Amino acid sequence: MRAALRFSVVAVFAIAAASVFLLPGPADALAERPEAPPEPSQSRYSKFSHDVEAHKKKECAECHKFPSDNWQKVRPESEAIPDITEYPKHDSCVSCHRQQFFSGSKPAICSICHVNPSPRDSRRHPFPNPREAFDKSPKGKNSFSEFAVAFPHELHVAMLASKSPRTPSDRTSGPMFVRAGFRKVVQSETCAMCHQIAAPQGDGDDEYATKPPEKLGDAFWLKKGTFMTSPTGHTQCFTCHSADAGLSPAPTDCGTCHKLAPSNLKVDFDQAAAKRMNIEDKLLVASWRRRDSSATFRHEWFSHAEMDCTTCHALGDIKTADWSSRSVKISTCSNCHITATSDDGGILNYEIDERKKDPKFQCVKCHIGYSGLPLPASHPEAIKALSEN
Ligand code: HEC
Ligand code: HEC
Ligand code: HEC
Ligand code: HEC
Ligand code: HEC
Ligand code: HEC
Ligand code: HEC
Ligand code: HEC
Ligand code: HEC
Repeated sequence: MRAALRFSVVAVFAIAAASVFLLPGPADALAERPEAPPEPSQSRYSKFSHDVEAHKKKECAECHKFPSDNWQKVRPESEAIPDITEYPKHDSCVSCHRQQFFSGSKPAICSICHVNPSPRDSRRHPFPNPREAFDKSPKGKNSFSEFAVAFPHELHVAMLASKSPRTPSDRTSGPMFVRAGFRKVVQSETCAMCHQIAAPQGDGDDEYATKPPEKLGDAFWLKKGTFMTSPTGHTQCFTCHSADAGLSPAPTDCGTCHKLAPSNLKVDFDQAAAKRMNIEDKLLVASWRRRDSSATFRHEWFSHAEMDCTTCHALGDIKTADWSSRSVKISTCSNCHITATSDDGGILNYEIDERKKDPKFQCVKCHIGYSGLPLPASHPEAIKALSEN
C-alpha cells in the first residue's frame, strides 16, 4: 500500500518537475539509448551499461576476472591488494559483439576502454577502480557508478564496536589491566573508520565551497563540510572479505555488494545549481546528486557536528542498496528547526505558514530541488508530534 502510494506521488511529481529531481547519470544513459528508429551510427556503443538484459544474464566474473593482472602496479607497493583494476579483455565481448568490433575503421565500442584505439595503440583509460586515478581522467570526471553498494551497517557496526581496540585514553576508571575499567566503545565511534567530513572548513575563514557572487545575500551557496565521505573502493572491505579469510561475500562475489541502482530516483539535488556554483570535485558531486532528504544540510555546522551520528541516522534505517529508502526523517530536525508553534521560531513552521499564504513560496532552508513542490505529510506531522508531547 505504502509503496503504491509513493509511486503514484512520484509519478505526479515527475510530471510537475521532472528535470529537478530525477537522478542524472543512469537516466542520461537511458536517454542516450533511443529504442527506435534503429540508429544508423554506432555511437551508442561508445558507452557501456550493465543494465542491458544480455549483460545482466552473465555472471560478473565472466567479464571481471579477479584479480586483474595489473593490481600490483596501480597502487604503491605498500597499499597494493589483490583487486579488480583493469577492463575486461576482448574475449568477454567479442562472442556477442563481433559486428561492433570489426566494422569501420574506428569502431565506437573500442573507446569504452581505449584512449585512441587502433591496431597499434592499446592505451586504455584508467579503470573505474581505483577511483583516485579514474576520477581525474577525462573519462572518469563525469562518469558515475551504475551501482549502489550493499553494506549492512547494523551487522558491521556492532561487530566493529565490540572489536575496537581500547587505548589507555579510553580508560575511565580502575587499574590499567582491568577491562571493565575501559569505556565501552560507542557504536557511533565506528562511523569515523569509513566516514569523515569531506572538504571541511576547519579553522579556515572561508565557509563556501567555491567563490560565491558578491551580492549573495541570504541565497544558498554550497558550504564546505556539507558532506560526509564514504569508502570509494575495496581496501577496507577486503581486509576482512579476502580470498584467504573465506568470509562471505568473497572478493569475487561482486554482485553481493554491488546492486544496480534505480535510474528514476527522486532527489533534492539540482544539477543546474551545482553547475552555477562550479562544484567540480567529483566526490562532492557524487554525494550531492544522491541527497534525497535535504540538499543543503551541512554536517560540519557545529550544532549538527555535536550530535551523535545515530540520532539522525538510525542504524536500522540505513539501507545503502535501497535508494528508495531514506535514512534521515524530518522528525530528527525537531526542537531546533521545528517547534510546537510558529511563535517558538521553527523555520519549518515559518515556511509552512508562508506556503499557506502564497502557494508559490519556495522552501529554501533545507531544500533545493524540492523547494517548490507540494508539502509532504511528514512535515506537518512532525509539528503535530511536538505539540502532542
Ligand atoms: C558483459 C561484461 C560485464 C559483466 C557481465 C559485468 N561487467 Fe562490470 N564492467 C564491465 C565493463 C566493460 C566495465 C567498464 C565500463 C566503463 O568503464 O564504462 C565495467 C565496470 C564495472 C564497474 C565500475 C563502473 C560502475 O558503474 O560502477 C563496476 C562496479 C562493475 N563493473 C561491477 C560489476 C558487477 C557487480 C557485475 C555483476 C553483477 C558486473 N560488473 C558484470 C563489463 C561487465
Ligand atoms: C552474451 C552476449 C553479450 C556479451 C558477452 C556482451 N554483450 Fe554487449 N550487448 C549484448 C546485447 C544483446 C546488447 C543489446 C543489443 C545491442 O545493442 O546490440 C548489448 C549492448 C551493448 C552495448 C550498447 C549499450 C546500450 O546501452 O545499448 C554496448 C556498448 C555493449 N553491449 C558493450 C559490450 C562490451 C564492452 C562487452 C564486453 C565487456 C559486452 N558488451 C559483452 C550482448 C552481449
Ligand atoms: C571492454 C574493454 C575493451 C574494449 C571494448 C576493447 N579493448 Fe582492446 N584491450 C582491452 C584490454 C583489457 C587489453 C589488454 C589485454 C591483455 O593485456 O591481455 C586490450 C588490448 C588491446 C590491444 C593490444 C593487443 C592485444 O590484442 O592484446 C589492441 C591493439 C586493442 N586492444 C585494440 C582494440 C580495438 C581496436 C578495439 C575495438 C575494436 C578494442 N581494443 C576494444 C580492453 C578492451
Ligand atoms: C566499514 C565501513 C563503514 C562503517 C564503519 C560505517 N559505514 Fe556508513 N557506509 C559505508 C558504505 C560502504 C556506504 C555506502 C556508500 C556508497 O553507497 O557509496 C555507507 C553509507 C552510509 C550512509 C549513506 C547511505 C544511506 O543509505 O543513508 C550513511 C548515512 C551512513 N553510511 C552512516 C553511517 C553511520 C552513522 C555509521 C556509524 C554508526 C557508519 N555509517 C559506519 C561504510 C561504513
Ligand atoms: C542533525 C542530523 C544529522 C547528524 C547528527 C548526522 N547526519 Fe549524516 N546526514 C544528515 C542528512 C540530512 C543527510 C542528507 C541525507 C540525504 O539527503 O540523502 C546526511 C547524509 C549523510 C551521509 C551521505 C553523504 C552525504 O553527506 O550526503 C553520510 C555518509 C552520513 N550522513 C554520515 C554521518 C555520520 C558518520 C555522522 C556522525 C559523524 C552524521 N552523518 C551525523 C543528517 C545528519
Ligand atoms: C572487520 C571485518 C569486516 C570488514 C572491514 C567488512 N566486513 Fe562485511 N562482513 C564481515 C563479517 C564477519 C560478515 C558476516 C559473514 C557471515 O555471516 O558469514 C560480513 C558480512 C557482509 C555482507 C553479507 C551480509 C549478509 O547479510 O549476508 C556484506 C554484503 C558485507 N559484509 C559487505 C561489506 C562491505 C561492502 C564492506 C566494506 C565497506 C565490508 N563488508 C567490510 C566482516 C567485515
Ligand atoms: C565486500 C563487498 C564488495 C565486493 C565483494 C566487491 N566490491 Fe566493488 N566496491 C565495494 C565498495 C564498498 C566500493 C566503494 C563504494 C562505491 O564505489 O560505491 C566498491 C567500488 C568498486 C569499484 C569502483 C567504482 C565505483 O563503483 O565507484 C569497482 C570498479 C568495483 N567496486 C568493482 C567490483 C568488481 C568487479 C567486483 C567483483 C570482482 C567487486 N567490486 C567486488 C564493495 C565490494
Ligand atoms: C528543517 C528542514 C526542512 C524544512 C524547513 C523543509 N523540509 Fe522538506 N524535507 C526535509 C527532510 C529531512 C525530508 C526527508 C524526510 C522526510 O520526508 O521526512 C524532506 C522531504 C521533503 C520532500 C520529499 C518528500 C517525499 O516523501 O517525497 C518534499 C517534496 C519536501 N520536503 C518539501 C518541503 C516543502 C514544500 C517545505 C516548505 C513548506 C519543506 N519541505 C521544508 C526537511 C525539511
Ligand atoms: C540540535 C539542534 C539542531 C538539529 C537537531 C538540527 N539542526 Fe540544523 N541547525 C541548527 C542551528 C543552531 C543552525 C544555525 C542557525 C540556522 O541556520 O538556523 C542550523 C543550521 C542549519 C542549516 C543552515 C546551515 C548553514 O550552514 O547555512 C540547515 C540547512 C540545517 N540546519 C538543516 C537541518 C536539517 C535538515 C536537520 C534535520 C535532519 C537539522 N538541521 C537538525 C541546529 C540544529
